[in-house]
Amino acid sequence: MGKLDRQINADGEGNMTDKAQAIEVRDLYKRFGPLEVLKGVSLSASQGDVIALIGGSGSGKSTFLRCINMLELPTAGSVTIHGETIEMKQDGHGGMMPANRRQIQRIRTKLGMVFQSFNLWQHMTVLQNVIEVPVNVLGQPKDQAIAVAETLLRRVGLYEKRDAYPAFLSGGQQQRAAIARALAIQPLVMLFDEPTSALDPELVGEVLSVIGDLAKENRTMILVTHEMKFARQVASHVIYLHGGVIEEQGSPEAIFENPQSERLKKFISSIH
Ligand SMILES: Nc1ncnc2c1ncn2[C@@H]1O[C@H](COP(=O)(O)OP(=O)(O)OP(=O)(O)O)[C@@H](O)[C@H]1O
Ligand SMILES: [Mg+2]
Repeated sequence: MGKLDRQINADGEGNMTDKAQAIEVRDLYKRFGPLEVLKGVSLSASQGDVIALIGGSGSGKSTFLRCINMLELPTAGSVTIHGETIEMKQDGHGGMMPANRRQIQRIRTKLGMVFQSFNLWQHMTVLQNVIEVPVNVLGQPKDQAIAVAETLLRRVGLYEKRDAYPAFLSGGQQQRAAIARALAIQPLVMLFDEPTSALDPELVGEVLSVIGDLAKENRTMILVTHEMKFARQVASHVIYLHGGVIEEQGSPEAIFENPQSERLKKFISSIH
């Protein structure tokens, strides 16, 4: 989306009602057997919002992200991407399943996911990783996909490594390749699950800098992170998850400078 959207959307008062809705999650529940991991989590992001999702280990952050692209099937609730709600039906065991496989596949190609552990295809070069889905799933002409991939690899500082295999890259380089791969599908929403937590400390900065640049581009992003300083800088909204519910949410200033719940206060001071 271009500058025009930004101008139309920004009313200067944080009023989101006029902005294009990029993603809306309503009352999401997820249960693994007897364990209820998400207990009614809702989130709504407008075009260009960067939502930081924070919370302790086991609070349900990854499960929530995975439910958005149906890598995990929610037990109840709805997910809507740019106005299109994922169609679900009862699975007969108290849960839900996709009602329309084609729709899921299509919507997945609009969500760029970046994992903690990179998940690059090890038997493919960096360039092959980036063009794989555009060419073999989306049917783009190969030369066009290569041109886009090369531009993206330049952006993340990896053009020189385009013919290298992942095993020969540092963790930071692999994660930047994974980000280029996620961008290559021209996603409507980027989902990041702790993209820097598997990295050596000296490599964290290069990845955060790439994500920080994306945040400035009017891209809609949901970012699970333990990097509080970074969340503070890039997020437009912060959600604190605890025990599968949103315990507190608000602007980065409100959450980090003026947390209300005792638990959030403790969490923030434990992380600094
Ligand atoms: N496939 C699964 N089967 C059973 N339980 C699961 C599964 N995936 C997650 N869980 C459980 O759900 C809870 C939430 O897990 P989740 O991975 O979403 O937490 P998280 O907030 O991402 O934690 P972390 O910060 O450690 O990554 C945990 O108790 C976890 O053990
Ligand atoms: Mg997690």
